This record gives sequence, C-alpha cells and structure tokens, in this order.
Amino acid sequence: MSERRPKNLAGNSPGSLRILILGAAGQLGRELAHNFAGFGTVTAAARATADLAAPDQLRALVRSVQPNVLLNAAAYTAVDRAESEPELAHAINAEAPRILAEECLRCGALFVHYSTDYVFDGRKPGPWVETDAPNPLNVYGASKLAGEQAVEKIGGRVLIFRTSWVYGPHGRNFLLTMLRLARERTSLSIVDNQTGAPTTSMEIARATRAIVSGVLASQFGAPQEWRGLYHMTCAGAVSWFGFAQAIFARASALLSIKPPPLIPIASENYPTPAARPHNSVLSNNKLHARFAVHLAPWQSALEEVLQALAATS
Ligand SMILES: NC(=O)c1ccc[n+]([C@@H]2O[C@H](COP(=O)([O-])OP(=O)(O)OC[C@H]3O[C@@H](n4cnc5c(N)ncnc54)[C@H](OP(=O)(O)O)[C@@H]3O)[C@@H](O)[C@H]2O)c1
Repeated sequence: MSERRPKNLAGNSPGSLRILILGAAGQLGRELAHNFAGFGTVTAAARATADLAAPDQLRALVRSVQPNVLLNAAAYTAVDRAESEPELAHAINAEAPRILAEECLRCGALFVHYSTDYVFDGRKPGPWVETDAPNPLNVYGASKLAGEQAVEKIGGRVLIFRTSWVYGPHGRNFLLTMLRLARERTSLSIVDNQTGAPTTSMEIARATRAIVSGVLASQFGAPQEWRGLYHMTCAGAVSWFGFAQAIFARASALLSIKPPPLIPIASENYPTPAARPHNSVLSNNKLHARFAVHLAPWQSALEEVLQALAATS
C-alpha cells in the first residue's frame, strides 16, 4: 500500500487519542489492533466484552471508552449460515452499526465501518463504483447493505469501506482452507466463474490507518469532503480458481505443500445456501482520488501472507 503521509495530527497528539476496535479477534480486527498500536490508547474488544447483538452493552462500552476513533471490524460473516439466521445477521450487521453510528455522533468520534462486495448482484460487466445500485443476492449482503444505509442515515464523521474476499494469515478464509484441503484431498474443484479482488487484512488495516491519520490531521479537508462510502480492495481481479492456482504456485515452494490437481467448475455445479455474485470487482478510483491511498496488487499481497505463514511454520 502506498500513502501520502500526514503532516501533523491537528488537535490531538497521537498518544492522547482513544481508539476503540470492535471485532478484535477477527481477521481484520486483529490487524487493526496491530496497526493502530502506538497511534493512541487502543481498546481492542472482542465478542465477550462487546457483543454486537447486545445493544445496551455496546452503548455502555462506547460511553465508557469515549473514543476519538471507533473501528468496527465485527460482523456476522458466515455467508451461508446467514440464510437460516437472517434476524441475527441483521442485528449484528445492520442494527449494531446504526447504534455505533449514533454513539459516535454523540461523542464526536470518527466512525470507521466495513462492508462488502456482496451488496452487488454481480451482473455488471466492469468494476462496480460506489454510485452503482446495490442488489444483494443473499441475506448477508442484504444485512450489510442495511448497515451501510443505517450508518449513512445517522451521519456524522463516518467512513464506510466496502472490501472483498478478505483473507490473511489468521482466522477462517479461502487461503487457509485451500492449504488445509491440499493435505486432505486428492483433487480440489474450485469455482471459476466468480471474479473478485482477494484483499488482505493487512492491506485494509494499513490503508485504514493512513486514511484515519490523514483525516485527523485535517489533510482531507472538512468532514463533508471526505465522509461517506468508498471501495477498498487490493488491485487487480481473479477468479477463485485463479486465486487457488496462485496460492499453490507459491505455497509449494514456501510451505512445502504438494498441490493436488485443481479442477475449474462453474458455481452452478457447486450449490451453496447463499448465491454469490459472478462479478464483484470493485473500482477503487474514488479511494485513490480522495485519499491517494492505493492497496497493493492482490499478487504481492498474497506473497506477503504466504511469507508470513512460512516464517511461522
Ligand atoms: N471475510 C470476507 O471475505 C469479507 C469480505 C468482504 C467484506 N468483509 C467485511 O470485512 C469486515 C471484517 O471481516 P473479517 O474478514 O475480519 O471477518 P471475521 O474474520 O469473520 O471477523 C469478524 C469478527 O466479528 C466477530 N463477531 C461476530 N458476531 C459478533 C457479535 N455478535 N459481537 C461481537 N463480535 C462478533 C467475530 O467474533 P467470533 O470470532 O467470536 O466469531 C469475528 O471475530 C466485516 O465487516 C466483513 O463484513 C469481509
């Protein structure tokens, strides 16, 4: 990721900032906690102390921390399970962000929230821009869209970053599933007709930090100039099948994994409870233009994750 460095942190020295991170045990939450360490006093809360399905607990936590910046990386992310738990997905992905936006408005905090490429139906041939009409194909996407809309409606100093195909060295993700299955199966059938941008938790966390730092330094102007919705993904695009090929091309050398034969299949031949968009590539032009922040190409971001796994294996 490349970034423009802020000159100063107007009004607050970094040490005096209070940063509240929710979803601290998740892929992104963990990286945010790592990247924001030293940026201020970080309170990193996981489900046990900040349950997004418990509104009173959430409100009490925000009021006691009184954050300058609230980063919400918690979400109901079980895309297929959401089809049978729509109320819970809505409570966590839509209702909780609304409450958090309200609390941030009350205390004047910058609220950073994350959303998903799955707000789109995948039918557009080119990259999706922020002004394209969303039309989620599944409950998860609908719940995340409702969250975006609720947060935008509350207003205030809000940044919503839509990202896609998130993975990293920790947690539950496609890359770690591929590495596990390579040890268990004699061949792997992988969907080849869904295209997106695999994006690492590290790249999102670094980009978030650069943008938050610039916002607090008034580098991007008044809130009405920068607040709102942005797409934030690694550069480039690939199918799940192509991503798996790239993973194994390097994992065989770096992690001594013997890749099984990979078989490309159509998503129609791999039925799942939740439908997924065929094209979920997001344009990052708005992010580039406003913040001059560019996430790495997905290939070099993948290399970073595989190197991190190799260093600890
Ligand atoms: N993963 C993706 O492919 C993807 C794609 C596009 C956008 N996004 C968005 O990116 C953001 C970060 O996702 P991620 O990949 O880091 O997801 P993740 O690894 O699944 O982490 C989500 C975290 O939210 C926590 N959580 C779930 N229910 C909760 C609740 N009721 N109260 C408090 N915490 C709760 C989970 O806690 P437990 O560990 O206790 O379950 C988990 O630690 C989310 O907004 C997600 O929608 C993700």
